[in-house]
Amino acid sequence: MLEEEPEYMALSVEQILASYDDAAPLAEAATIPGPWYVDARIAELERQTVFSKTWQMIGRVDQLEKPGQFLRATVAGEPIVAVRGNDNVLRAFYNVCRHHAAAVVTEPCGQAQILHCPYHGWNYGLDGALKGMPEFDGVKNFDRQQNGLVPVRVETWEKFVFVNLDPQAAPLHDFLGGLVGRVAPLEVSKLHYFDRKTYNIACNWKVFVDNYLDGGYHVPHLHKGLSSVLDYKQYTIENEDRYCLQSSPMVASNEDAATGATRKGDRAWYFWQYPNLMINCYEGYMDTNLVLPVDVDHCTVIFDFYFSDVSEKAREYNAQSLAVGDRVQDEDLGICEDVQRGLKSRAYGAGRLSVRREAGEQLFHRLLAGNLKGGPGSAAVAAD
Ligand code: FES
Ligand SMILES: [Fe+2]
Repeated sequence: MLEEEPEYMALSVEQILASYDDAAPLAEAATIPGPWYVDARIAELERQTVFSKTWQMIGRVDQLEKPGQFLRATVAGEPIVAVRGNDNVLRAFYNVCRHHAAAVVTEPCGQAQILHCPYHGWNYGLDGALKGMPEFDGVKNFDRQQNGLVPVRVETWEKFVFVNLDPQAAPLHDFLGGLVGRVAPLEVSKLHYFDRKTYNIACNWKVFVDNYLDGGYHVPHLHKGLSSVLDYKQYTIENEDRYCLQSSPMVASNEDAATGATRKGDRAWYFWQYPNLMINCYEGYMDTNLVLPVDVDHCTVIFDFYFSDVSEKAREYNAQSLAVGDRVQDEDLGICEDVQRGLKSRAYGAGRLSVRREAGEQLFHRLLAGNLKGGPGSAAVAAD
């Protein structure tokens, strides 16, 4: 017997997009509907209109400090390499050989004097220029100047390196907008990279982002340990430009010793920058979360951890801090995978939003709708 086709498959992409009302004020608004999370056509549209047009973080400035240091990444399905030149200029390129399209750089990161394609040995300079091609004598109408690696825009902010596949995009600082001024006083540049953890989750990337942006709504229910150090009633949610800042005063906790010892300071700062980057800060601590779509119902989330002290004597404390984070992540992962199953159910359409808690989610959904619908609203969407 043939399996019944889900109802949304009978809808056109335009109909699916039209089923979300991005003009509704928060008190009347709903989430983006289920098909936005489960229809592969929407995922492909996101690749084209969101991930190919926004600034995407690919790594850290400290990985690209010296001439020849390089870093490989995938952005919107495109292989990318960023490299510091001998002239100290940071550049990025499509990591695609102009000969027969092999990946020129195959290591995730490192340092090199030239970029050497492993397939037939073509060499490119750190500035992307094609330097040499073995056994290519006698080839006519071949202009070496025109066959360098194809450049991609690259810019940095704080400790982070970003690329943008769209040659027309506004500069990174314009894209980040007010986020730049909000993060500056936290002095994250004084922190040092410690470790990375990668989670593969069976949910659409937006489910993870929604979970992050619910204004602490789920914290007392799902994260009992974390909940004990946050003053939940005082939790604030601010939307501006393309970012949302969720923040909470911290309280001393005896309830959960490990959380209390590793989540310190006066306030917790949780920044989300559209579409897929989070920056979480406590005193002497930062982690970033980069949410990368894999397919319509899978994503990878990369957590990078930073501390004020990464010396050997701080190692145990830092490891304990990561373990606390890991427990919170496990709690979130389970619920995200559950939600993905629910979003596919014929019983679900869209959900309403808490006015007190879920303004950040609405900002996300409006910005996304603006990009997917391709209207002028894609550049700036005011929050209520
Ligand atoms: S594909 Fe790179 S040298 Fe042939
Ligand atoms: Fe959570």
